Amino acid sequence: MNRHVVITGASSGIGKACAHAFAKLGCTLSLGARRSDRLQDIKENAFCHALDVTKQASVERFLAAAIAAHGPIDVLVNNAGLARGLEKIAEGTGDAWREMIETNVLGLLEVTRRVLPAMITNKRGHIFVIGSIGGHKAYLGGGVYCATKRALQPICEAIRMETLGSNVRVTSIDPGMVETEFSIVRFKGDQERAAKVYEGTRPLSADDIADCVAWAATRPAHVNIDQIIIMPTDQASPQLVHRVPK
Ligand SMILES: NC(=O)c1ccc[n+]([C@@H]2O[C@H](COP(=O)([O-])OP(=O)(O)OC[C@H]3O[C@@H](n4cnc5c(N)ncnc54)[C@H](OP(=O)(O)O)[C@@H]3O)[C@@H](O)[C@H]2O)c1
Repeated sequence: MNRHVVITGASSGIGKACAHAFAKLGCTLSLGARRSDRLQDIKENAFCHALDVTKQASVERFLAAAIAAHGPIDVLVNNAGLARGLEKIAEGTGDAWREMIETNVLGLLEVTRRVLPAMITNKRGHIFVIGSIGGHKAYLGGGVYCATKRALQPICEAIRMETLGSNVRVTSIDPGMVETEFSIVRFKGDQERAAKVYEGTRPLSADDIADCVAWAATRPAHVNIDQIIIMPTDQASPQLVHRVPK
């Protein structure tokens, strides 16, 4: 598959797994994250560059460098995202809310709006959005994170309408529980608390999600996979998880 694939948040978890999956398909890659030193794992056909999606200048520098390295962008994987804390709304803090909204919603928009015009002109392109089951059903303490993921649904719908006739595809991949650094970030480095999230159950792996992304990306050009909701077999809803006690 001869495509230039740009992945945001490729330093860890799902983004990194997507990079490996697209590398296997023979794509050229542009990978961004704030911890750019962690992007170097994927050596073949990968251009690595610092990216903070919450900073417009950083987004511009990253995309300009990616296009200079590998030419027009064929696939954008909007993966960069995070949750902060698990506080109820009445106990939450503006700082955590702002970080989630600025990263998960505004950051995604800032990257996407700069990539879309060339896709429309070139009449080809595929935008991926990594949403969440939390965007379909809220959970206790996840109100603002879930709101950021819910917001991605009308954004995807609008882009599909706005690009109609230009062959641009828009796919939302909405996972349940995936074991990555997500919970460590959510609990600000508290490894023990993060490990409890996955205790006694079998979560999805980052590779499971990358599989879905790669599958959707390799459908024929006239086929758009709108949305994939993917859950571990042991999870029925955000907070209903089958666990085997130790
Ligand atoms: N794990 C789950 O259970 C789960 C479930 C549903 C959806 N998701 C979504 O999946 C996506 C990937 O998360 P993950 O599970 O793979 O977690 P992860 O292992 O913590 O990876 C998150 C990635 O996002 C990047 N990132 C965060 N803020 C960024 C910023 N301002 N600019 C650029 N990159 C940034 C991080 O890189 P740097 O820190 O190096 O910048 C990292 O590469 C997120 O959108 C998350 O909401 C995860």
